[in-house]
Amino acid sequence: MTDALGLTGLRYRFGKVEAVAGVDLTVAEGEIFGLLGPNGAGKTTAIRCITTLLPVPSGMVRVFGHDASRERMAVRRLLGYVPQQLSADGNLTGRENVAMFARVFDVPRRERAARVEQALTAVGLAEASGRMAATYSGGMVRRLELAQALVSAPRLLILDEPTIGLDPIARTGVWEHINAVRAATGMTVLVTTHYMDEADQYCDRIGLMHRGVLRACATPYRLKEDLRARQGGDGVPTLEEVFRDLAGSGLEGELEGGFRDVRSTRRTATRLG
Ligand SMILES: Nc1ncnc2c1ncn2[C@@H]1O[C@H](COP(=O)(O)OP(=O)(O)OP(=O)(O)O)[C@@H](O)[C@H]1O
Ligand SMILES: [Mg+2]
Repeated sequence: MTDALGLTGLRYRFGKVEAVAGVDLTVAEGEIFGLLGPNGAGKTTAIRCITTLLPVPSGMVRVFGHDASRERMAVRRLLGYVPQQLSADGNLTGRENVAMFARVFDVPRRERAARVEQALTAVGLAEASGRMAATYSGGMVRRLELAQALVSAPRLLILDEPTIGLDPIARTGVWEHINAVRAATGMTVLVTTHYMDEADQYCDRIGLMHRGVLRACATPYRLKEDLRARQGGDGVPTLEEVFRDLAGSGLEGELEGGFRDVRSTRRTATRLG
């Protein structure tokens, strides 16, 4: 079976900063794969190469066998993407936002209305879909973005911190929606999160990225057992302890990336009102 995603020797640099420094990774069809790592590790950069928003200057990205450099449109048709920065337009209603994505992602005209309703219903926004997105709470906005990404019925859904800033109930809600769609369609999911409990509970496998490279890649169970074997003792460590062990304090890349992300998130927040 063709892998949903294959990265071979992926590298990307911003000037002197090598944000992605040689990543090899495969994600099997139907998997939920969690990409974890401290701020500035290179997660978003790797994702932007996969989604064809950044070029692939070195190495290879394949999505269901399609080369992201040479077959950009084919790759885009297979993808749904919820970016780290907010992407909904506050001046449109929820339904209009999803309909816009349906057009952009080439959902056949005849199917559009039904698919938009389906996506809104899948994330529990059918009732609120006539309201301007500017009146939505943070959790509703994140679910709206999930509906935008789902409307094209992607075979690979890529979510960059889909639950950031959400309360625990809203976080669970987002994951339940993702799981329900996966169960119904066999969709593959690539997700980043800084919530270790979520990664532990919902991801089939986890890649731990640090300074542009993958430091470990295994099931949550395996990662924890490996740390236990290295440390000795009988208690099973948590995934957070695995993260700390592999990523150290991880503050090196944070200042720049943190500022940039906070700034653009705020800008979007202002736009959303
Ligand atoms: N547009 C850009 N211009 C310059 N440097 C950038 C740009 N985007 C990212 N970087 C740098 O590349 C590195 C990786 O950033 P990236 O956003 O991929 O990290 P991340 O793992 O997604 O972090 P976070 O958890 O904070 O979202 C950082 O050092 C960051 O400062
Ligand atoms: Mg990021």
